[in-house]
Amino acid sequence: MSPFNPVTPTILSQLTAIVGADNCSTAESELNLHAQDMSGHPPHLPEVVVWPQRSRQVAEVLRLAHVQRTPITPWGAGSSLEGNPIPLHGGILLSLARMTQVVALHADDFQVTVQPGLPYKDLNERLARHGLFFPPDPGANATIGGMLANNAAGIRTVKYGACKDNVLKMEVALADGRLIRVGSRSVKQASGYDLLHLFVGSEGTLGVITEATLRLLPIPQRMSAVVASFPDVETAVQAVVAIRGSGLEPAALEFIDGVTAAMLTEHGGADFGRRPTLFMEFHATHEESLRLGLAEVATICRELGVHEIRSTADPTERQKLWWARHHLFETQVRLHPGLRWLILDVAVPLSAYPALVGFVRQELERTGFVGYMVGHAGDGNLHVTLPFTDEASYAAATAVNAAIVRQALDLEGTATGEHGVGIGKRDYMVWEHGTAVDLMQALKQTLDPHGILNPGKVLPVKRGT
Ligand code: LAC
Ligand code: ZN
Repeated sequence: MSPFNPVTPTILSQLTAIVGADNCSTAESELNLHAQDMSGHPPHLPEVVVWPQRSRQVAEVLRLAHVQRTPITPWGAGSSLEGNPIPLHGGILLSLARMTQVVALHADDFQVTVQPGLPYKDLNERLARHGLFFPPDPGANATIGGMLANNAAGIRTVKYGACKDNVLKMEVALADGRLIRVGSRSVKQASGYDLLHLFVGSEGTLGVITEATLRLLPIPQRMSAVVASFPDVETAVQAVVAIRGSGLEPAALEFIDGVTAAMLTEHGGADFGRRPTLFMEFHATHEESLRLGLAEVATICRELGVHEIRSTADPTERQKLWWARHHLFETQVRLHPGLRWLILDVAVPLSAYPALVGFVRQELERTGFVGYMVGHAGDGNLHVTLPFTDEASYAAATAVNAAIVRQALDLEGTATGEHGVGIGKRDYMVWEHGTAVDLMQALKQTLDPHGILNPGKVLPVKRGT
């Protein structure tokens, strides 16, 4: 029997009273739009969608769900890749998409305070006129709240860190309707337990982020992109380790295998050739330091036997490269109509990256899967996309996923570098965390005793529920 209660007409009228009739909908089209993220996990419909506009409203909706034992699932832009915001148990879908205000810009402190539904690309557009930017860049136009809730990372993490490294303070609504503040606008804080980072990456299972103060940086004066193709995967991956080891601090250090390079060259509007390729970005304040850095990268790559290396400071050319990289998954989906995709996301310490990539190649050869391999190589983070069409191919892809996760953990890495646990990685939580999962369960019990917050995510599934 479900431990949850459905959304009744009484609950609907209470929701309407909290957020207003214009911000509450049971229309089929809205339910459908909030049933699935960008992952291959099956959709599940919510019973109602609400769009609060203020923190207090979020807190009141949570308290209502808590009192009524009705599931509630937060939603940002729906761009996540592990089923994180799919309302698995129906109930209330809490969309933060109408909370898009910049609350305060503290330009002299390099900080901005925003509501959670603001998409990060929109934020960066607004910050550009002040010469500032928020560095994490996951690709799809995710919301700040969704990014923090999933500890999103992306292509610039190698230099600037993930979301957890770029947030200072948050307001969080708890299941029982309390609004708390965690962290500080002081960049240093040594005061008590680090609750800020308890909520970052908790995927809406412990509370809902209603406001966040982010760290900003000045927009770099000079940028240059480098594309280097290699005769084989092993050499490309060796170059990753050598470039990181040189202390050059690339702002992006991305790897794509030959199949992916060929796909982007033919269909993605970029000229990567068809060999395993690294593409990098370097940021600097002065022309001279950029030039010296690029010369050193070229030397490292040549010593390793690079096939071809070119660099460009031209902004249009650079944007074309990143456009192709950011739209890689869309290009792939377009190219293979009818196929669905399992998107793998594991990460290991950098020195183990060659071993991880080698293992994945063997697994793909052994199983006959045509998978695309692409990675935020500078972080030791690898994605593999595996196609499936039916239950049998889904089961086969899941088995490959499990083997790759096992290998990443054996290499002292993690089951997910940046997409989060969501639905797809729950079964590996005990492998990765052992008895620490008991402590996670206890925290969940303390903060959400009725288990209404994004149920079915993050924590391992208890058999029989
Ligand atoms: C990317 C997503 C899949 O790196 O994380 O494009
Ligand atoms: Zn990624």
